[in-house]
Amino acid sequence: MLRDTLKTLLEAYGGVGSEHGVADVIRGLLEGHVDTMKTDVMGNLIVEKFGTDDNGKRIMIAAHMDHIGLIVTHIEDNGFLRVTNVGGIGVDMVRGRHVVFENGMNGVCWVEPKETGTPTLNNLFIDIGAATAEEAAAQVSLGDVAVYAPNVFNLGKHRVASPAMDDRCACALLVELLQYAEEQKNTIVGVFTTQEELGLRGATVAAYAVNPDIGLALDVTAWGDTPETKLPAVKLGEGPAVKIMDRSMVATPAVRDALFSAAELAGVKVQREVLAFGGTDGGAIQRTRAGVPTGTLSIPCRYVHSACETIDMRDMEGALKLLLQFVDHVDI
Ligand code: CO
Ligand code: ZN
Repeated sequence: MLRDTLKTLLEAYGGVGSEHGVADVIRGLLEGHVDTMKTDVMGNLIVEKFGTDDNGKRIMIAAHMDHIGLIVTHIEDNGFLRVTNVGGIGVDMVRGRHVVFENGMNGVCWVEPKETGTPTLNNLFIDIGAATAEEAAAQVSLGDVAVYAPNVFNLGKHRVASPAMDDRCACALLVELLQYAEEQKNTIVGVFTTQEELGLRGATVAAYAVNPDIGLALDVTAWGDTPETKLPAVKLGEGPAVKIMDRSMVATPAVRDALFSAAELAGVKVQREVLAFGGTDGGAIQRTRAGVPTGTLSIPCRYVHSACETIDMRDMEGALKLLLQFVDHVDI
């Protein structure tokens, strides 16, 4: 069940650069469902599910395991931690938030009072309940990464809110695709990537190694359907979105059109997406070697990079149906 797989993946720790816990969970879920499995130097988990057609294509499908967070830069004499961001996370989003470290240690984020101007990450600190630097240093080291504490809950009948929805919802989709695809024509190379939030770093080396015929990234996209928010023109519950463009790539028209065709075959409604900011692993796949025809399928997500990223399960179910058709029919 997509909802169960999603929940399992949302609960795993995967701070940027420390994604192996998520990879372990995925390995367990894919045992017996894929033909090969390996982890590369960057920590990417790369799996293959062979297609039935000797002339079939190798389709690299990427979903990133990393989760934005705060990295410890300094421990103060009174035991508070100073941090900087790993990925796009801001002061306004973390104030008062519960965070956790890989070893399970809890923390609370707060911002020191400031006389003038808006607070920056330099004004942020994490309280781990320690009274001295020694006490803190016994539990945490410089370079440790804190992420929003796992917290998955239903919002109404169809929606689920949680931190790490970006991009565990896509990891869940890719896991289920690999579990459910049966005798598909093309070979699926599923790549669970690392360090996407720092600039598509995992996908960059994985795409080079995989050398695919076709590329596809799965990621969340922003929303335009809450009060006074109008861009992009993407709504929750209206289906997955086929990306036309973002700041990392212009989707290859043939892949984009193959996604529309797969949606039609699956009887799934889709949205068109133009995102004026951000990027996905698709940008790295498209520009590896001499270039790879690449597209991105997006899950509409509200409040991206907050602790309450919200998606609609109907969009997830639509995406899975679409992907099952895509891997069987795409031929570029
Ligand atoms: Co992100
Ligand atoms: Zn993402």
